[in-house]
Amino acid sequence: MTEKNMLQAQAREIIREEPRYVSALSNLSALIMQCMPDLNWAGFYLMRDGRLSVGPFQGKPACIHIPVGKGVCGTAAARNETIVVPDVHAFPGHIACDGASRSEIVVPIRSGGKVVGVLDLDSPREGRFGEEDRAALEALVREIEASVDWEL
Ligand code: SME
Repeated sequence: MTEKNMLQAQAREIIREEPRYVSALSNLSALIMQCMPDLNWAGFYLMRDGRLSVGPFQGKPACIHIPVGKGVCGTAAARNETIVVPDVHAFPGHIACDGASRSEIVVPIRSGGKVVGVLDLDSPREGRFGEEDRAALEALVREIEASVDWEL
């Protein structure tokens, strides 16, 4: 099984057992941290009152609020597209939550036609995230969009 299919299948199972978002996203952040080598942060920011607020994650305590349009997360949310940053020092406005981070990928999560949050992964290794990772994480986010319950 490819990384993409494996993550997607496990994500589907996790969400199927408990679709409510706190439980589902908590286990999904742990799944990502366990399955993907060389990460120092994996988790979610959720749209609350027009800005991103930190959600379930694995890693060091992170900044709590990110305005839309700021940092890698806020930029991905504003553009409504995945952003891969091979070297965070070269990304203007990058928000450094953990000084060890060298590369990052952020995938927006949509519901009802709007961005409701982002999936954010950081790595201490420069250029950590390639096309396969992007495909695997976007497939995982499609599972979230299809089945996570945001209301409860
Ligand atoms: N680096 C992110 C902030 C969140 S932390 O990486 C967990 C950004 O620039 O948006």
